[in-house]
Amino acid sequence: MFVGIDIGTTAVKSVLMGEDGALHASASFPVPVSRPRAGWSEQDPEHWWTAVCDTLDALAAAEPRLMAAVSGIGLSGHMHGATVLGEGDAVLRPAILWNDGRAAAECAAIEAACPDARSLTGNIAMPGFTAPKLAWMRRHEPDLFARIRKVLLPKDYVRLRLTGDYASDMSDAAGTYWLDVGARRWSDALLAATGLDRSQMPELFEGTEPTGRLREPLRARFGMDRAPVVAGGAGDNAASACGIGAVTPGAAFLSLGTSGVLFVSNARFSPNTEGAVHAFCHALPDTWHQMGVILSATDSLNWFARLVGAPAPELTAALGPTVARPSPAFFMPYLSGERTPHNDAGARGGFLGLDQTTSRQDLTQAVLEGVAFAFRDCLRVLNDAGTDVARAFAVGGGANSPVWLSIMASVLDRPLDVSAAADVGAAYGAARLSQAAATGARDPAALMPPPRVERTVEPDPALASAYAERYGRYRALHASSAHAAD
Ligand code: XUL
Repeated sequence: MFVGIDIGTTAVKSVLMGEDGALHASASFPVPVSRPRAGWSEQDPEHWWTAVCDTLDALAAAEPRLMAAVSGIGLSGHMHGATVLGEGDAVLRPAILWNDGRAAAECAAIEAACPDARSLTGNIAMPGFTAPKLAWMRRHEPDLFARIRKVLLPKDYVRLRLTGDYASDMSDAAGTYWLDVGARRWSDALLAATGLDRSQMPELFEGTEPTGRLREPLRARFGMDRAPVVAGGAGDNAASACGIGAVTPGAAFLSLGTSGVLFVSNARFSPNTEGAVHAFCHALPDTWHQMGVILSATDSLNWFARLVGAPAPELTAALGPTVARPSPAFFMPYLSGERTPHNDAGARGGFLGLDQTTSRQDLTQAVLEGVAFAFRDCLRVLNDAGTDVARAFAVGGGANSPVWLSIMASVLDRPLDVSAAADVGAAYGAARLSQAAATGARDPAALMPPPRVERTVEPDPALASAYAERYGRYRALHASSAHAAD
């Protein structure tokens, strides 16, 4: 038996998986996000820990016999979050998250201090990454910065509480902007550019390697017979890829979660900093991946739902299973700035093209389309990098909306595959990584086959050509509107 834990931005989810990959139980508990200022996004690491324990207690209560047989635990979590620890592992301030835009000025400073930054990391410095957040702390919170003993990513803070070890895996570490991504090791030059050194970093492992064992009191609390190994695990996107079988070159998935991700697995380190494509290590040894990341995917729809006071599923259901034509309105989904392709923390969203007849349905559809156009931007820059995505699995909460998937397939002009396994995504991938670690698997990819395709959402040719025209206008509108309020 294996447990996978995913520290999501809005909820922690844990799953219990058998040796044959069968899913036996899952549990989920919400975690709050705080937005103390516009563009900021923080979480209290104690909330992750409480939610992790709540999910494991729930699994132990539901399946005590299966929990007793657990031999591996895998961790996944939202990437880039800066969790800073002082003396005695005390958390020095709330963790600054992946969708926090405060560190834009520090990105340029890091690239100036380390001229090789882009070739070492394969990425443009973006405010969401961890290193710029530490550079921000150094400048704005120097007293706290001086007390930092360790910097951990969210899932690695949970690992510390589970095992007592400071450890990370390559895929998550690649998102810090301190990793030499091609060589899979910390870069002293990049660390020095933010006033840090290796002693403040966790030890690096592959996602499929054991990093330690569950501490004794926790083993007893969760009713496990033997202390399971805790695997390196992965950042949530690489973990989702392991869950959906996107571990061989060219295999892809599209994630409609809080953020939106178009992810492709690569045989080699394939950086393309033009267009703000992310090039990171994959969770399996000697593999890498590229992805386009948009910052507000389901976050856009949830924002709109809050605004109009109706649940998001009710809004999308009102559109029916498909749409006949594009919405007359446009929505720019830059509620938290944007990464791919703009790398612009200051970009802001908007509705355009409204008139007296514009309805709530038109605006709902415009929100779904705006997010789909942002994904088309990601596809375009991946294509520019020489990587095509012929088809992709659709995962994440937004993939439960038939109308959103049909819009997405037509906007991208690509078929999207849907599987029941998509629901458990990153937590399931983390469980698979722990299976590799606990069994010492020689060929971990063999443990990660793609799930059965339940249905494929094909693009509608007439709608695809209408959307191709609308996409051209969306791009032009972005250029003129993203800073309209500055
Ligand atoms: C990836 C990214 C997000 C988070 C949250 O670079 O910032 O996808 O991992 O899911």
